[in-house]
Amino acid sequence: MIPVTEPFLPPREQYQALIDQVWERNWLTNNGPLVNQLELRLKRYLGLNHLLFVGNGTIALQLAIKALGLKGEVLTTPFSYVATTSSLVWEGCTPVFVDIDPETLNIDPNRLEDAVTPQTSAILATHCFGNPCDIEAIRTVADAHGLKVIYDAAHCFGTTYDGESAFAYGDISATSFHATKLYHTVEGGAVITQDPDLLKRMAYMRNFGHDGPGTFNGVGINGKNSEMHAAMGLCVLDHIDDILSRRKAQCERYDALLQNLHVQRPSVLPNAEVNHAYYPILFESNEAMQTAFEALERKEIRPRRYFWPSLSTLGYVPEADMPVTMDVAERVLCLPLYHALTEEEQEMITRILLRTQKYAYE
Ligand SMILES: Cc1ncc(COP(=O)(O)O)c(C=O)c1O
Repeated sequence: MIPVTEPFLPPREQYQALIDQVWERNWLTNNGPLVNQLELRLKRYLGLNHLLFVGNGTIALQLAIKALGLKGEVLTTPFSYVATTSSLVWEGCTPVFVDIDPETLNIDPNRLEDAVTPQTSAILATHCFGNPCDIEAIRTVADAHGLKVIYDAAHCFGTTYDGESAFAYGDISATSFHATKLYHTVEGGAVITQDPDLLKRMAYMRNFGHDGPGTFNGVGINGKNSEMHAAMGLCVLDHIDDILSRRKAQCERYDALLQNLHVQRPSVLPNAEVNHAYYPILFESNEAMQTAFEALERKEIRPRRYFWPSLSTLGYVPEADMPVTMDVAERVLCLPLYHALTEEEQEMITRILLRTQKYAYE
């Protein structure tokens, strides 16, 4: 079976050496030395001033929403993973969907202005598939209306915008280090901000608000992560350049092999560099996508319909008409992409896709 993704595992001895240290110290969680080391190394690698390692990408979003004190309506994308929307609802905000750009598959900045009301407090946009949003255009609308900006940067490890990590943008960026991600800590995530006050607030919030053993600085939650997870993060970080360059080569191979397939690929802004975390393709119709999906499934190849259905159809959000997202969600497929995927497997996947298209057009 070829899955859509598979976690990268470092050599077992490398992980074991760090776990041996944890055993010797018997310090498993609560801001341990490996968590500290991971935060320092991540900041250095990504060129960031501030970053907090947290339990997962969902708690990262929730901390960001809470730390900014968001209330009322938040403009957001309907084309993302469910956590983007559910974290807003969980924190008592109302998601107001703004349709996506059919080329980049990110929130369409030209539609933001019309969705702003006196109740709007922020924009929560996803850099979908690691492809950065039009950050400049979003900032212009946010500044004009005094809105905060959170980026769901769950897919963005290694992505750059204007030469800087995509994590450096927005009031806060929230990311996921889940095992399915290009860079992972098994479960994990981070919040990133340039604002030292926001950083301090989120650091308290991550640890129940503790200011001392019996004193608290505001309300908090358990957003911490453990030494075992940090150990995995440190090991994977040692291989990240290899992971990123292999993904790039695999995507270029798909590009070359699929030249004659009638599909659209998301466009990337000229000032951005993607991390090749995913390989989404948009078929001409739902029928063409379904035919390809079934042909691959018959050979035990499991692409995923990322992201389907549109988040605007979730039962617990206000109804919204999102024609572009609805259309894209019916035609999109992410092809298998992970470190261990071989050239032969890529050739088999692409052969099946091309053969299926050939029959469809005959
Ligand atoms: C866009 C997006 N946002 C948020 C999340 C949630 O991250 P986590 O699974 O680490 O909670 C994910 C992935 O799982 C995601 O793809």
